[in-house]
Amino acid sequence: MANIVVCHSRKGGVGKSTLAYELSWLLDAVLVDFEHDGGGVTATWGYRPLERLRVPVLDALESGRTPRPLKGFHKPRLVPGHPELLDQPHGQEDVATALEQWAGEWDTDWVVVDTHPGASALAHGALMVANVVMVPSPLKVKDLAALEHLVADMADYPVVISPSMVPATPPPQMVARLERAIEGTPVQVSAPIPDSRTVGTRTKRVAITSESPVPKKLEKVAAAFDDTAKFVKEYVQ
Ligand SMILES: Nc1ncnc2c1ncn2[C@@H]1O[C@H](COP(=O)(O)OP(=O)(O)OP(=O)(O)O)[C@@H](O)[C@H]1O
Ligand SMILES: [Mg+2]
Repeated sequence: MANIVVCHSRKGGVGKSTLAYELSWLLDAVLVDFEHDGGGVTATWGYRPLERLRVPVLDALESGRTPRPLKGFHKPRLVPGHPELLDQPHGQEDVATALEQWAGEWDTDWVVVDTHPGASALAHGALMVANVVMVPSPLKVKDLAALEHLVADMADYPVVISPSMVPATPPPQMVARLERAIEGTPVQVSAPIPDSRTVGTRTKRVAITSESPVPKKLEKVAAAFDDTAKFVKEYVQ
């Protein structure tokens, strides 16, 4: 069965979808989008859910059949999200069982799941079967406060924190706070992802790490995603 990587956080806008997209490309994963609002990996990919009649995730959960991922050029295989995932009726156990089935049936070693911030049956179901839970967090006061709660509640999950949007000189007191938050827990920290304005204004659909050569302004970010993918591989083994 494929390994399952779940990108998750309590807070919004921390870099989950960006990480999910790049990791999926680098791991040659099937990317499952459990997001219900736009602006996530499904939009980046170029899929417009409202122009389609079907909701692939809901169809799969209802029918028990494994969805067929979409394929694209220089972007990950995708099971797209949809606004109807907001109030979908399936419980976390059913979601977990379905994801395991998909991970067993797809021709891949990796599945990456992107989630909506906070609690939902989709997120909890994914967390139940995660081999690694990637939690992006900027090194800022409010983000680290939320992270402290997450670490306290989820220390028995395979949590890896991915410091995100990190300035060239990370504030030492924030680094110390992150270290304190994970002290005495099995939670690990992967390579910091540098802050880059280019990431926020980029409109391309292909993964950053799929570009050859990677544009100069994105080199550091791409290298950090590469390191993160390597970390994930080692962590899961
Ligand atoms: N390394 C980075 N440097 C600068 N901006 C970034 C970086 N990574 C992501 N961003 C930008 O920050 C915003 C939020 O990123 P992203 O959508 O990945 O977060 P998210 O946690 O998935 O958000 P949501 O909770 O809304 O799903 C986006 O505009 C994205 O382009
Ligand atoms: Mg997102």
